[in-house]
Amino acid sequence: MQQRHIPRHVAIIMDGNGRWAKQRNQLRAVGHRAGLKAVRKIVSHAAELGVKVLTLYAFSSENWKRPETEVSALMSLFIYALNREIKSLAKNNIQLHIIGDISKFSHQLQNMIINAEKLTQNNTGLVLNIAANYGGRWDIVQSAKKVALQVLQGDITVDDITEERLSLGICAHDLPEVDLVIRTGGEYRISNFLLWQIAYSEFYFTDVLWPDFNRTLFEEAINTFNARERRFGSVNVEGSLC
Ligand code: IPE
Ligand code: IPE
Ligand code: MG
Repeated sequence: MQQRHIPRHVAIIMDGNGRWAKQRNQLRAVGHRAGLKAVRKIVSHAAELGVKVLTLYAFSSENWKRPETEVSALMSLFIYALNREIKSLAKNNIQLHIIGDISKFSHQLQNMIINAEKLTQNNTGLVLNIAANYGGRWDIVQSAKKVALQVLQGDITVDDITEERLSLGICAHDLPEVDLVIRTGGEYRISNFLLWQIAYSEFYFTDVLWPDFNRTLFEEAINTFNARERRFGSVNVEGSLC
């Protein structure tokens, strides 16, 4: 039997917390707390499997549109999770990064993020990216601004603007390409998650609500990924007539 190939970079749209809570006649915040438990399980499983990078969509740039009570419950949960998990991330050799526009967060949260990243920066195991106030369009725009500045300063010309150069400003550009995107919660859309980075990713959608996502389902997603043939615009040479 062929050896199973573990995707190097897995990105997850963790959707369905609200519906999970609703099914139980609970507040949406209860669903978000249950979602945090699933995060713990999947982070440790990904690390055990040897996944190099795990990128989790925690809060989109559009999620500010939610009722104030839910936004503030999510911010409190973020602070709670950072406080509670940082020691175990550090101990388990996990390198934490927050991707997104963190300038919109409270000073307390911004400081916690900076400290947490610093504390784990020399870790060599799983790289864990948490996308918070992240938008794929924002990501492309902030990179384009950096390139525009280089042109303005005369460091490069317009002809020097290539995919490679624009890539350099995009979040997680220094990490392996996203191999697999998983979305839970039954919606078949990207919701402004990584746009640039998923040009050739494989997609796995499941109806399971995020708080119910577990190790077995993660394995199932990886097995499905293994059955895919990635051609990157080329042709499969095996079995080809020419
Ligand atoms: C995803 O779950 C978590 C966040 C967006 C923060 P939702 O809160 O979107 O859950 P549903 O989609 O309403 O069930
Ligand atoms: C995407 O879920 C964002 C996160 C999982 C953080 P949403 O629930 O916000 O997406 P839409 O609104 O259904 O597209
Ligand atoms: Mg949702």
